[in-house]
Amino acid sequence: MNKKKKKSGGKKATRSSSSQKGFAGALRELQMNTFNYAGGVRPGQQSPQKIVDNPNIMKPDYALSGMPNAPRPPLPWVIEVKTPEEIEKMRVAGRVAREVLDIAGRAVKPGITTEEIDCLVHEESLKRGGYPSPLNYRGFPKSCCTSVNEVICHGIPDDRKLKEGDIVNVDITCYVNGYHGDCSEMFVAGEPDDKARNLLQTTYDSWIKSLEFVKPGNHYRDIGAIIEDYITERGYTTVRNFCGHGIGSVFHTNPSILHYRNSEPNGQMAPGHTFTIEPMICEGTAKVLSWPDNWTATTADGGRSAQFEHTLLIHPDGVEAFTCKTEDSPLQFWEKESKVFKGKWMGTTSKARARANELNSIS
Ligand code: MF3
Ligand code: CO
Ligand code: CO
Repeated sequence: MNKKKKKSGGKKATRSSSSQKGFAGALRELQMNTFNYAGGVRPGQQSPQKIVDNPNIMKPDYALSGMPNAPRPPLPWVIEVKTPEEIEKMRVAGRVAREVLDIAGRAVKPGITTEEIDCLVHEESLKRGGYPSPLNYRGFPKSCCTSVNEVICHGIPDDRKLKEGDIVNVDITCYVNGYHGDCSEMFVAGEPDDKARNLLQTTYDSWIKSLEFVKPGNHYRDIGAIIEDYITERGYTTVRNFCGHGIGSVFHTNPSILHYRNSEPNGQMAPGHTFTIEPMICEGTAKVLSWPDNWTATTADGGRSAQFEHTLLIHPDGVEAFTCKTEDSPLQFWEKESKVFKGKWMGTTSKARARANELNSIS
């Protein structure tokens, strides 16, 4: 937890962050200032960490300590099957995360700071009875991740203003009534250049192609090759350092979903499994550079990166996206122009297909 430094009695406190944060803070600041950044994005100033004290909002085990307790199953192919009661709670959490993500996305425009987006996310999560899962998760300082341009993931909201043409991934996870719903989407501040359009379209299409593959009996390991083959043909690269994950009452658990060709024994898909697919696709190298803040991951060459994420449930006849778009969700150009699936993608079960047909035919 962030501890507020007490002011010593009457003595004028200097305003430099180093004196407020002590030796470790000064060292961190020096590292930040001398760090060899890969691209144009720099860390800004962060406002103090928020604390959720509303007793009506259920907090995850790490909210105070920063450390999640639940151990992963010892073997990578052991995957929890959710009960119908758990599934209904996850549907609610997914819906909340989606609503918050849509609100955050509508706020993206040149001039807004990622900190302002984070405040919106925080407030809108609480309004819906949700705890913003990133807040203090392994010490993460904010309520969502905002990853701009060359930032691959885990960007920390700060006072940096979005600029015309910036692409930003907003990653929202909400913990509602004991269960997490996790989703992310790309947004453009103003108008994208042609290279950004192509990156966003390709990332989206590779993701949808992998979502369409999900059904009982298939192997989790085969998701990766679908994504890698699709994006490699188009000149892009896929990140290996971060993966999708099982999710439920625990934020990150089995199965691990690798977004590159692999032969890991990560289990077989079965009804009742809930997990995310969240590929990170890059213009140049997919090699990661980690900032001294210990969170922000950028590409090593400063090339841009894009990502989408859904929380999914496997049914006997396909997959449902708990975090799918609603009738109120804005449609982005890559959804209109996709050659893999046009309109809002909601899943592959007959129910999800019917609902998508309904929604996509109105507009
Ligand atoms: N939402 C991210 C994911 O997709 C995790 C964020 S953890 C945080 O798994 F601590 F960085 F917020
Ligand atoms: Co996420
Ligand atoms: Co996730």
